[in-house]
Amino acid sequence: MRNLLSVEQLNANDILTLFNIASDIKASPQQYCDSLTGYHFALLFEKPSLRTRASFVTGIEQLGGKAHFYDLQNNKLGVRESLQDFSANLSHWYQGVVARVDQHQTLQTLAASNEYSVINALCDLYHPCQALADFFTLYEINPVMSEWSVAYFGDANNVSQSLMEVAKKLNAKFSLVSPECSAESFWVKHQSNNSLNKDSTLVNDEYSFRYFNQPDDLQFADVVYTDVWISMGQQNAANEQVYKPYQVTPALMQRLNANYFMHCQPVHRDKEVVSEVCDGHWSIMQQQAANRMPVQQAILHSIFNEVL
Ligand code: CP
Ligand code: NVA
Repeated sequence: MRNLLSVEQLNANDILTLFNIASDIKASPQQYCDSLTGYHFALLFEKPSLRTRASFVTGIEQLGGKAHFYDLQNNKLGVRESLQDFSANLSHWYQGVVARVDQHQTLQTLAASNEYSVINALCDLYHPCQALADFFTLYEINPVMSEWSVAYFGDANNVSQSLMEVAKKLNAKFSLVSPECSAESFWVKHQSNNSLNKDSTLVNDEYSFRYFNQPDDLQFADVVYTDVWISMGQQNAANEQVYKPYQVTPALMQRLNANYFMHCQPVHRDKEVVSEVCDGHWSIMQQQAANRMPVQQAILHSIFNEVL
């Protein structure tokens, strides 16, 4: 593996290998302190970040590498010079590029140079590092992944897509509970094979994926997950009122008999979730945030030491 652009390029064994390395890094970080020695990383961020930026910078440095952060919010890629020229220059100094970009295509162009490794730190279509850290958080609680059932409420977006992909690989159950306008437009963007069929259920041999237009149609979930209703860069995309029925409340958690609440953060209190849930006994969102670092370290360790 040279790049990590989406979860689709990993199989179940790859993901479980990453989880085992992440566990090992958490248990014995000193064993990995030279894992990235001699490697330099450019962090190219066209959008804001706390968790992704902090966990990559500290995680790279803990493994002996060097990280240089480029804030590109006001200096988007491809404006001052072509992306191809920018990329050719990067290759003189960096062995790795961690990029948060507006368009997935930008990551593909960077990766096409084949001069350095490219890690997707969020784009319009995917957030693979987030979803891997999230399922690692569940794996730490119960490693039998087929026993998990995760229900995602709200906007169908980059996070829900990567979660669905990891769930599929690990044979966990995944339900998307989202307004039809959101789910449809996201799947169109993906040119995905998923489609909303009449009974709102899509099942294949490998996994069970279900789509629900109405929250009341879902009866049970171990885990309720939500994310911001309007993602970065999508400010004009939807009317928040459409999402109001998908808000995560104590009543929803109780009705579904859910044990855990997850959120990638940042949280928008009293929008997608109320404080009683995200600060309550259900919430494992800080464990998710803390697990970003060891999972990303496992990814980088695997790439630069040819484990995967
Ligand atoms: N969850 C997540 O990616 O957080 P940041 O946007 O703060 O990096
Ligand atoms: N879906 C959100 C995730 C933020 C971490 C966004 O893209 O803004």
